[in-house]
Amino acid sequence: MARVEAGPKATLQPPKLRFPLRLRCVACDREHDPLQVRYRCDCGDILDVEHDLDALRSLDLRRVWEQRWGSRRFPCDSGVWRYRELILPVEEALIISRGEGNTRLYPAGKAGDYAGIDHFLLKHEGENPTASFKDRGMTVGVTAARMMGAQSVACASTGNTSASMASYAAVAGMRAIIFIPDGKIAYGKLSQALAYGGKTLQVRGDFDVAMQLVQEVCAKLNIYLLNSINPFRIEGQKAIVFELLQQLDWRPPDWIVVPGGNLGNSSAIAKGLRELRDLGIIRAMPRLAVIQAEGANPLYRMWAGGGPFQRVENAETIATAIKIGNPVSWRKSLRGVQETNGVVEQVSEQEIMDAKAWVDAAGIGAEPASCCSVAGAKKLRQQGVIAKDDLVVGILTGNLLKDPDAVVNYHTDNLGDRGIASTFANRPIPIEATFEAVERALGG
Ligand code: F0G
Repeated sequence: MARVEAGPKATLQPPKLRFPLRLRCVACDREHDPLQVRYRCDCGDILDVEHDLDALRSLDLRRVWEQRWGSRRFPCDSGVWRYRELILPVEEALIISRGEGNTRLYPAGKAGDYAGIDHFLLKHEGENPTASFKDRGMTVGVTAARMMGAQSVACASTGNTSASMASYAAVAGMRAIIFIPDGKIAYGKLSQALAYGGKTLQVRGDFDVAMQLVQEVCAKLNIYLLNSINPFRIEGQKAIVFELLQQLDWRPPDWIVVPGGNLGNSSAIAKGLRELRDLGIIRAMPRLAVIQAEGANPLYRMWAGGGPFQRVENAETIATAIKIGNPVSWRKSLRGVQETNGVVEQVSEQEIMDAKAWVDAAGIGAEPASCCSVAGAKKLRQQGVIAKDDLVVGILTGNLLKDPDAVVNYHTDNLGDRGIASTFANRPIPIEATFEAVERALGG
């Protein structure tokens, strides 16, 4: 049985932070108090958590984190809280953790051959407690909710954020209120939200409409918002890259490739890299490649076209996790791409599902949005942007079982209405219940 842990009962004193933090506006630079609930600056833009790196520099964090590797003790058994000095240096009693992180880094196997990259590793964030990378941000988000004294938390979601939030809220004894686009999220994710007891509102409209609505509701009803617009969520998600680098003995890869939807994850990875570099824990910066689906590609359009950011109306893709036209964190993500000398690329529906067929056939498996990492890496390799012998790490953001419909429809030639051919289908074979029929099916 999975181990579910909440720290001992929280104290009633105002929370203390072991190291000072600030919130800072990404657009106008204004500072805000981190212990007050706030997601935006007065100028309307979003906020970064800023750590006091000078205070952290004296700690030799790399040595501290190495000593914690493999720890069985709460909260250092978590692949997020192991790095807590650079995430949220809060007292242990407040921490809500499910031992998240500690996800494996696999050789990409057949998916690497398909992408044409010799040294291709896949970090499988689908191995988190609720089967997506969201748990890393959520353990910190729900802990921050507790730090702020919140009783209720809310999010808009294409599915994984809501599954994660519902689980962590259940552990924390909080009320979870979920806004999902009606009929447009994968069943694995909807099942989790319902099962963990989240109050699930199916909003008539798409994710972008639900995101707008949840912000209004949280402001008016004093509910703590746990989308990645919440800067503490981003802090937790940085642990993907901390753990990845620790797995590589702190030798940065040449590339990190991630799918981009609401653009929180790419923002977090870039922020984490910047902080590690500024602390002297890594010397070189990996290049970040953010991959969007063609039908939900506002960052790519901006990147390729050089114009201002513009939302995409009626975003559409089979990778429902990233069916987002108006990503909240575009400015942070773009800053991250620029700071790492990175790129933004887009991939077609066919490219996503074919890449997925190879991620799955490699025995690793991931949901469609995750496979943008492999489809994008292949495309960047073909363009010569990624070199054949570069060390590339693709982030697989969610588990294969999140979206079984996409799998079965691909392998049974049922995606024609979306213009997707089942190029690498592994079709099920109906047979009579006889030995001869089995022999025929096995090709003699
Ligand atoms: N991959 C998966 C499986 C996701 O669920 C998401 C986002 C992304 C990639 C994109 O990450 O938004 O940080 O750029 N899912 C959110 C949700 C939007 O509601 O679960 P991002």
